[in-house]
Amino acid sequence: MGDTLPGMSKRFYITTAIDYVNGQPHLGHAYEKVITDVIARARRGLGQEVFFLTGLDEHGQKVQQVALAEGKDPQKYCDELAASWQAFVAQLNLTHDDFIRTTQPRHKTVIQAILSRLHAAGHFYKAPYKGFYSAKEETFLTDKDRRPDGTFDPSWGEVVELVEENYYFRMKQHQAWLIEHIEAHPEFIYPVSRRNEVLGFLKNNTLEDLCITRPASRLNWGIPLPFDPDYVTYVWFDALSNYISVPAALGDPATAPIQPAQVPQTTPLELWPADAHVIGKDIVKFHAVYWPIMLKAMGVPLPRQILAHGWWQKDGQKMSKTTGNVVDPVAVVQEWGVDAFRYYVTRELDIGPDGNWTDAGFASRYAAELANGLGNLVNRSLSMLKRYRQGIVPQRSDELAPEARTAATAASRHYETFHLQTALEDIWGLVNRANQYVDQTAPFKLAKDPAQAARLDEVLYSLAESCRVLAVLLLPVIPATSARIYQQLGLPKPPERFTEAAWGGLVQGHVIGEPAPLFPRRDQPPKA
Ligand code: MSP
Repeated sequence: MGDTLPGMSKRFYITTAIDYVNGQPHLGHAYEKVITDVIARARRGLGQEVFFLTGLDEHGQKVQQVALAEGKDPQKYCDELAASWQAFVAQLNLTHDDFIRTTQPRHKTVIQAILSRLHAAGHFYKAPYKGFYSAKEETFLTDKDRRPDGTFDPSWGEVVELVEENYYFRMKQHQAWLIEHIEAHPEFIYPVSRRNEVLGFLKNNTLEDLCITRPASRLNWGIPLPFDPDYVTYVWFDALSNYISVPAALGDPATAPIQPAQVPQTTPLELWPADAHVIGKDIVKFHAVYWPIMLKAMGVPLPRQILAHGWWQKDGQKMSKTTGNVVDPVAVVQEWGVDAFRYYVTRELDIGPDGNWTDAGFASRYAAELANGLGNLVNRSLSMLKRYRQGIVPQRSDELAPEARTAATAASRHYETFHLQTALEDIWGLVNRANQYVDQTAPFKLAKDPAQAARLDEVLYSLAESCRVLAVLLLPVIPATSARIYQQLGLPKPPERFTEAAWGGLVQGHVIGEPAPLFPRRDQPPKA
């Protein structure tokens, strides 16, 4: 047998962070999922097989506290919230292949296999710890966290002094190789500013051993240690491992060292190592320091890339429920449509810097770029084809082919290198050129002069084919719009592959469908 059996080649494996279930989804969660979906779809466009994982981080003190405060069993509380998070994911039109919940048996089994293996290999030890503990943030605080007057910031919530025995993961032997690895793989942490921060941290500090447990007497909402039932795994150990527990549960051969004894005998998928972990800037240290060390201890390869995006603010302020300046992604999607939301966040914020949401900025991009830019182009191009040629595609003309090729080549390259904002700029190069072409060629005037019929054919073909090319290139970002353009062109659903953006897909004699506005004009900013 050859090595090209379907499902037996390594897929492009991409993940988001898994979100805490102690609240409702917000703009930050939505942004991370949308850009990850754009990358996943773009990789399919580039011809790769993809596996996209997202999900929920369900254990820990905060979840236990909120559940108890609501008088609910933690699992029941998680089940209820998980249903609304899954509905949220569906509203964002994501193409994820799996949704992990860390309370699922498949995850717990792998975590316990990992813990047993690492314990047997001597990576853990038990020691007493005395310190100041923030229950709200589930973390022990150090003197570095004190304010100049010696107190802790109220954002930590109540801080209490605790002494307890816990298990620790030995870190010292890992520092040198990790620095070498990051230096030898410049692409490992993206963008470079985050890479420099991690390297600076590793070179100027001695890594402290990582506390990986909580006593079950204080926190019973977690996965028990297989070798000491008085303890549960602390959230980060449990949470980070989700990225590998799914491949391990699916029998991925690359995860053999940590596979539990009973792996279902389905056709194994080749996923590991992950190609990209998409996360926010606040959790870079967990992903770029502790996670690689955990994997090295497990005896499995490291992920290829960590993509750290920035944080959104609203009107220049940190979003906070107490001040009321939050953006509710569900409300925006309901009012403006999922594609307007996906477009705005992808176009507005590159992966790396922080972003600022303003309702006026959203409305302005919607009006200028979607309604008047893309929407107007598609609507007038197809309406004129309908009016002047009864919707029948004329003979091929290549007048806009060079611009279409330039847009396709540049956008594919930028999608591949995670420059999603630039990919959209490349595509809008074609939107703007085609709109300008309408103004320059004035087909409504050509239509009045029978001697210009051949010229009108050329113009109408060039415009309709530009719309088709745009639909192919825009599929990763605004998939529903892409599908509507194809439908209005009288074609089946838009193809996944960018190779289909090659000029000349529309054939002479094909009859298009009914033109309809893609982005209705709006006068009001979104209700956020
Ligand atoms: N459960 C942990 C992650 C474990 S990953 C193994 C967690 N959850 S979270 O719900 O607090 O955050 C989930 C993701 O949302 C993180 O990547 C975080 O950076 C991102 N964001 C949270 N607020 C954000 C903004 N305001 N803007 C952009 N992203 C933000 O951390």
